Amino acid sequence: MKPKEKALKFPKGFLWGSSTSAYQVEGGIINEWSEWEKKNAGRLAGQAKNYWQPWQIKKFPEILNRENYICGRACDHYNKYKEDFDLLSEFGHNAHRLSLEWSRIEPRPGEFDDKELAHYKEVILDLKKRGIEPFITISHWTNPVWIAAIGGWENKESITYFSGYVKKVAEEYKDLVKFWQPINEPGTYIGLSYIQGSFPPRVKSFWQANKAFKNIMESYRQSYNIIHGIIKEAQVGMSHYAVYNVPYKNKLKNKIILKPIDYIRNWRFLDSIKNHFDFIGIQYYHTDVLNLKFGLGRWGPIETKNPNRIVSDLGWDIFPRGIYYLLKKASKYEKPIYITENGLADRDDKKREWFIKRHLYWVHRAIHEGVDVRGFFYWSLLDNFEWDKGFWPRFGLVAVDYKTLERKIRPSAWKYAEICKKNGVKI
Ligand code: BGC
Repeated sequence: MKPKEKALKFPKGFLWGSSTSAYQVEGGIINEWSEWEKKNAGRLAGQAKNYWQPWQIKKFPEILNRENYICGRACDHYNKYKEDFDLLSEFGHNAHRLSLEWSRIEPRPGEFDDKELAHYKEVILDLKKRGIEPFITISHWTNPVWIAAIGGWENKESITYFSGYVKKVAEEYKDLVKFWQPINEPGTYIGLSYIQGSFPPRVKSFWQANKAFKNIMESYRQSYNIIHGIIKEAQVGMSHYAVYNVPYKNKLKNKIILKPIDYIRNWRFLDSIKNHFDFIGIQYYHTDVLNLKFGLGRWGPIETKNPNRIVSDLGWDIFPRGIYYLLKKASKYEKPIYITENGLADRDDKKREWFIKRHLYWVHRAIHEGVDVRGFFYWSLLDNFEWDKGFWPRFGLVAVDYKTLERKIRPSAWKYAEICKKNGVKI
């Protein structure tokens, strides 16, 4: 006999939505990434054959094409945002997370573009008119070309420039936006750009990583103060990539490394900005089973030995219960938590409904045990440009045909819509 479905109710006023970031969906942006990908797209396409599994190459042959790695017009969300927000209304979302593009707003140092500032105002107003609460990320991994030219985040001057940009947008949107996330996932950015060296500026140096990290964190702290100086009731929070780490085969050596790794990956930098956040934005995707080995690999002497039992199209290990453990741990900061990203690449939409429901089951359990979780944002509203992987990973509730720009709602989007409208999930 099928077990009876259980309806899990979420607290009143819970925020339900989805996330995007400017570069990944808007199209037509010139910044450090667009310049970098022109030089690197050929290399990425060439390396793909050895990098990805045969099943991935078979399923996504575009992985081998240079064009896959050029963002270009992306989903043209810059022009189609109203049409896309119509979907949010249909889905019953009451919140939406998006980012501003620094290179549009400040094309040259200290020069702000009124037209672009007005554009984002219209975007935000369009959400507000629909009763959708905007969550604004001020910088989601992309730097203007002129910031890259002075050495990006490694240069201390980036702090002054970023503060000027933050001040401008906070003043501009002070009457419209309450929730702010100044910088998206600093830890992931540093890991990918300065340690693994797969994102621009493609550096592999702990020394440079540390320099950039310090400047980013200082920028974050200053942003917190600036925004609060301008908007009294603002809620400013970190956007934080959290990974659930597990020791491989429960071996003692792996249990020993687990604690410091978990600290470095998940909690070190939240500790370093303890007095500078009003909420935590947790972004959770997968679990990693860690093994200490001899010799150096991509991440030093530690490798991942993931069981690959249930994986996304990207091969990431799906482990919904991980979100529960992370939420329980994050509750030690005694601040409200929003899950500002959680999602998977699943082109055929075979696992998405299950993925969302299982994660929500564990989120609900954490809430039931007293963790103050106040919102959930699925990543992402649309299929989009997945950075150095390009277009093939399909994270969207809504599929995008990149040739025609046609949007097609995936069935799981309606299932998620039911959850949003009922403020509850049937498990
Ligand atoms: C980033 C997104 C990205 C997603 C999936 C998050 O860490 O904020 O930009 O698309 O992960 O990889």
